[in-house]
Amino acid sequence: MSDIDRRRRDFPALRGTKGAPPPVYLDSACMSLVPQAVLDAIQEYYTDYPGCAGRSLHRFAEEVGHRYEGARESFARFLGAPSPSGIVFLRNATEAINLVARGFDWKPGDRVLVTDQEHNSNLVVWQRLAQERGLQLAHLRLPSDGTFDAEALDRELARGVRLVSFFQTSNLDGRSLPVREITERAHRKGAEVLIDGCQAAPHQGVDLQALGIDFYALSLHKMLGPSGTGLLAGDPERLAKLSPLVIGGETVEWTTLTEHQLRPPPHRFEAGLQNYAGVLGAAAGLQYLEQVGLDEVEAHDRSLNATATRELAQEPRVRLLGPEDSAQRPSIYSFTLDGVDPNDAALFLDEGYRVMVRSGMHCVHSWYRERSLPGSIRASFYLYTSPADIDTFVTGVRELLDRIPASTTSAKAPPMSRGKRPIRRARVRGA
Ligand SMILES: Cc1ncc(COP(=O)(O)O)c(C=O)c1O
Repeated sequence: MSDIDRRRRDFPALRGTKGAPPPVYLDSACMSLVPQAVLDAIQEYYTDYPGCAGRSLHRFAEEVGHRYEGARESFARFLGAPSPSGIVFLRNATEAINLVARGFDWKPGDRVLVTDQEHNSNLVVWQRLAQERGLQLAHLRLPSDGTFDAEALDRELARGVRLVSFFQTSNLDGRSLPVREITERAHRKGAEVLIDGCQAAPHQGVDLQALGIDFYALSLHKMLGPSGTGLLAGDPERLAKLSPLVIGGETVEWTTLTEHQLRPPPHRFEAGLQNYAGVLGAAAGLQYLEQVGLDEVEAHDRSLNATATRELAQEPRVRLLGPEDSAQRPSIYSFTLDGVDPNDAALFLDEGYRVMVRSGMHCVHSWYRERSLPGSIRASFYLYTSPADIDTFVTGVRELLDRIPASTTSAKAPPMSRGKRPIRRARVRGA
């Protein structure tokens, strides 16, 4: 049995149900699958020490508290964060970005710089703050070939920027930005840097201190953790200057009827009873990821994407988004098909081939709307994706192209043959 086949056996969702062939899951950029070890960690919490950390003194509480702080240490080590106290567990990356955005002591006229390819999670909150607190939101336009224009960044920085808030790897086309260079240039001009690491940290080694990142937002459900888990990482001293997004139980040292004293980071940001099961599950996911090794994950992504890119480059109606070289977007293959609605393509692949891809605007509506594009199809890969998955995906795309002549639209496409169900009419969705 090959290494990848052995690894796939660790993921219950890949086993297939009731004799059906296993699904081809190519939507890991949205949410990764979880290995059995994560499910075991969740179950262990509820069966062996189902307490709440930091409040009670009994054995369940002690045990979960010890493990929860152990999880913090593991993520700090993994990310090269300055200290475990700089790891704040949250629901997701969106909450992490909101915490920074809403926690800053903004002055009217302060400028925030984002790229023109940010996920809504790193855009909408800034638009809101522009309305509510008079922030100025500036956009750095990225070249479409995947290169980075450092001079354009310098021009923006020269106009005065308080915070640069960029993705590290794009969920739209998989390209990565040169984070080290960005932080150096930003710091030289006195700007701080928030990096949205959602699509980067699950696939490549990240060292926050070496990269000079001030704030780092991460979803743990994109790196083998349970849904609804994420974190914000930063220097605890810098985090202490942010005002908390939510306050109440667990965030304070003491209260009187009129006053309170906040606890130091990270606890002042973790209000109320926490998602212990989720965090302990995420820590088990991290352990699994580290056992496989990020070098192996990156090499695996690259090899799969090289195959998908090479095969689909032979189809003239396939239009790739992002850099041509798959090595520059290892975990994501994003594309449109001439004459085929992206949502119809996704439904066809799911119904005919059990291939799950993402379609639509991938929460980057602003980018598609600027280009008058209806969306795209995105296949994303992870450590459990097999070469056979890529073959099935490519076969499915080819059959779809055969069935829908370039001159028609997919809404008029003929029903599928060989007992396969017809294309369902795609819901028109932006996300
Ligand atoms: C680049 C990027 N940023 C932010 C998010 C939002 O992540 P979360 O759902 O953890 O808030 C995503 C999710 O797909 C993403 O890909």
